[in-house]
Amino acid sequence: MKIDTHFIHMITRHSVRIQPRSSHNHFNCNTKFTMAAYTDVDKVTSDLLVSRQNPLIYPEAFAHFGPDRVFLPKFFAQSAELIENLQVREDDLWICSFIKAGTTWTKEMAWLLLHDLNFEAAAVQSYIRVPYLEFDATWPVAQISNKLKGEDEKPSTMELVKDLDSPRTIQSHLPWSLLPRQIRDGEKSPKIIYVARNPKDLCVSFFHHRVLIEGYTGSLEDFVVDEWTSDLSFYAPFWSHVKSFWERRHEPNILFITFEELKKDLGNVIDRTAAFIGRPISPNERAALLDHLSFESMKKNPHINLDEITQLLTQVHGVPRKTHFIRKGQVGGWKEELTPRANAALDEWIKKNRIPGLWDNIL
Ligand code: A3P
Repeated sequence: MKIDTHFIHMITRHSVRIQPRSSHNHFNCNTKFTMAAYTDVDKVTSDLLVSRQNPLIYPEAFAHFGPDRVFLPKFFAQSAELIENLQVREDDLWICSFIKAGTTWTKEMAWLLLHDLNFEAAAVQSYIRVPYLEFDATWPVAQISNKLKGEDEKPSTMELVKDLDSPRTIQSHLPWSLLPRQIRDGEKSPKIIYVARNPKDLCVSFFHHRVLIEGYTGSLEDFVVDEWTSDLSFYAPFWSHVKSFWERRHEPNILFITFEELKKDLGNVIDRTAAFIGRPISPNERAALLDHLSFESMKKNPHINLDEITQLLTQVHGVPRKTHFIRKGQVGGWKEELTPRANAALDEWIKKNRIPGLWDNIL
């Protein structure tokens, strides 16, 4: 299937600023929780963050949503109720994660197991086979594209998910507290795979992602000290995100895996996922899947590596491309990149927040 680059072509030809939106309710702990309610990020912090963004990609400020005070662009408020009220299906398969935790890797494995190891059918963009539920509700570039699309408007990613045939495989980076109500209150119990990654490697990966996708102009140390360890980063706070699934890891519809396990013994995670999904695999299928999911195969797979899109985004924000979406795929790679100051800030933040039993050797 052809990649839809229409909107990115349009961005390259126009310079657009989206007007701030008005009349949102502000979140108040005493009122009934509504997902669209938020509290603003204070102005000094917001100005600092915005100064490091490319104004074309990030024209709007951020806010904190819901009881976990999840850090997202303000315009998330416009779609929050749509997500809250999404009709969940018992046969859905949800791939949940903090951004950069190994989502693409996990969803490729899960989608293939759910679709009878049909490698031919997998030759379609991963984001089409496994839509990212809140993409249009969170990434400013999607907002820009909606504006630019005008009459040519396409369904949002939320609407796309709503209309998918069963069984759906759905990706989301939302923490438990912002998932659709039917999941949170147990009315529906679809299978959920949560993939977690140690926060040192994850934040380094996220920094490179932001440079690649958004043209972020701060340094890695700026990002770690001012944003990441202050929980002022997309989808933060990290720890309550992971904890919200870690606490539910023994529930029968939840499989909790880590990036570190995928790296250490991919075959074992494939076996556990196959058992969870209920699709036994033969030794030959397992070998083929291992090969398909290797770093080298994923890096060159045009249905996964997003090379075409990241190339176009680079043209939009103008920051030279030094890396790729499938970048290094290492555990412990942070040791080569973090400055002593950034590492010290991370250590302090980890000591305050860590989850016993998870990444016990990270300090
Ligand atoms: P790095 O930036 O550290 O290389 P996500 O899909 O959640 O955005 O996560 C992306 C991270 O997963 C990137 O990490 C990417 O390289 C890594 N990744 C993706 N596929 C992989 C694979 N087959 N083996 C190892 N790492 C992989």
